[in-house]
Amino acid sequence: MQQKTSFVSHPVETVILGTIFSCILLWFIRDGLRVEGIEQKHVFVTGCDTGFGNLLARQLDQRGFNVIASCLTDKGGQDLQAASSPKLKTVLLNVTDSQSIEKAVQFVQTEVGDKGLWGLVNNAGRATPIGPTEWMQKEDFNKVLDVNLIGLIEITLKFLPLIKKARGRVVNVASVMGRLAFAGGGYCLSKWGVESFSDSLRRDMQYFGIKVSIIEPGFFKTGVTSLAVIEKDLQRLWDRLSPEVRDSYGVQYFDKYLKAQSLSMNTFCSSDISKVTNCMEHALIAKYPRTRYGAGWDAKFFWLPLSYVPSFIADFMLRALLPTPDASRQQIKLAFNSTDNLHKIQVNPH
Ligand SMILES: NC(=O)c1ccc[n+]([C@@H]2O[C@H](COP(=O)([O-])OP(=O)(O)OC[C@H]3O[C@@H](n4cnc5c(N)ncnc54)[C@H](OP(=O)(O)O)[C@@H]3O)[C@@H](O)[C@H]2O)c1
Ligand SMILES: *[C@@H]1O[C@H](CO)[C@@H](O)[C@H](O)[C@H]1NC(C)=O
Ligand SMILES: *[C@@H]1O[C@H](CO)[C@@H](O)[C@H](O)[C@H]1NC(C)=O
Repeated sequence: MQQKTSFVSHPVETVILGTIFSCILLWFIRDGLRVEGIEQKHVFVTGCDTGFGNLLARQLDQRGFNVIASCLTDKGGQDLQAASSPKLKTVLLNVTDSQSIEKAVQFVQTEVGDKGLWGLVNNAGRATPIGPTEWMQKEDFNKVLDVNLIGLIEITLKFLPLIKKARGRVVNVASVMGRLAFAGGGYCLSKWGVESFSDSLRRDMQYFGIKVSIIEPGFFKTGVTSLAVIEKDLQRLWDRLSPEVRDSYGVQYFDKYLKAQSLSMNTFCSSDISKVTNCMEHALIAKYPRTRYGAGWDAKFFWLPLSYVPSFIADFMLRALLPTPDASRQQIKLAFNSTDNLHKIQVNPH
């Protein structure tokens, strides 16, 4: 009775709250609607040797999709085949090799026939070389951009006719690092590129019933976050630096960097990679797939919100994650002395 009196005495608030709740409820109902005829639909996934791609291929196989999983290596393909139903097909694919892409398209064309391809999941990717920008050379950028961005673009373009036939979907794996750049090298660039390519593709292909979704995972324990691989490559970059550059960071910088990096990786990396594959699955199975999927708590509540705050705040927060080079400390100390001292800045303390 008291409840009722308060509704009546707050009609405006009641209507506003009611509308908000209805909208949220409707959104959840709409988000939960599924497409039909999964058993007749084909999905092609890249980079299925390990990580997200490997789990996704097995997961979609169990759901009943006709999965064509592409692997970079023979062994990756054989292992996956052994772990899935005979319905799942594997094919070799190196996304940086145009001929290899051509062969994969031929294979998929034969598999799907007139039905076309329902889903293309661009998942293959690499992270190294990744580290301080100054340590990079042009080729280091190319190595990552060729796989994560140019490879993804070529595959999408070559598969587009088959996807168009099925009025299907493209699911592109970007990253929170495609929204907030905080590591030098080609990785963040490539993922920003994936975001931008996907936005253009979605807007251009909407007229043909093609839907494009972007997956933005936070940090997960897989091949791309393997510290052994990243550290080995960082050592190569560090050893290659000129003595002047290395001194500006200080002799201890490299070790401190590795320690800080492993601390943040161990803090952020989740081993539950199904959070990511469930987003990919939703993008393929939902009647109304979402445009962007932030996957993982760190993505939803830290990285993606941080990408919206003013840059000076983000800079301040990100600074705390990495050690400070020696040369920077020298300059800070000097700044407290008289400005007359500034001309005496000695970057190299040795
Ligand atoms: N793990 C994370 O925290 C995270 C976060 C955000 C986004 N992502 C993205 O998620 C995607 C999947 O990565 P993952 O985390 O599952 O790591 P992963 O286990 O290393 O998977 C990436 C797969 O791509 C393959 N690959 C590399 N170069 C290739 C090429 N030229 N052609 C074809 N395949 C190639 C790799 O094969 P090999 O193992 O044989 O090299 C590997 O199987 C990547 O695009 C990555 O950038 C990952
Ligand atoms: C992938 O293709 C590129 C370009 O053709 C080649 O340089 C690279 O070695 C290939 N990678 C693998 C694992 O075959
Ligand atoms: C700054 O000034 C103090 C005292 O005035 C001096 O001891 C110190 O060496 C100066 N620092 C530098 C880096 O010049």
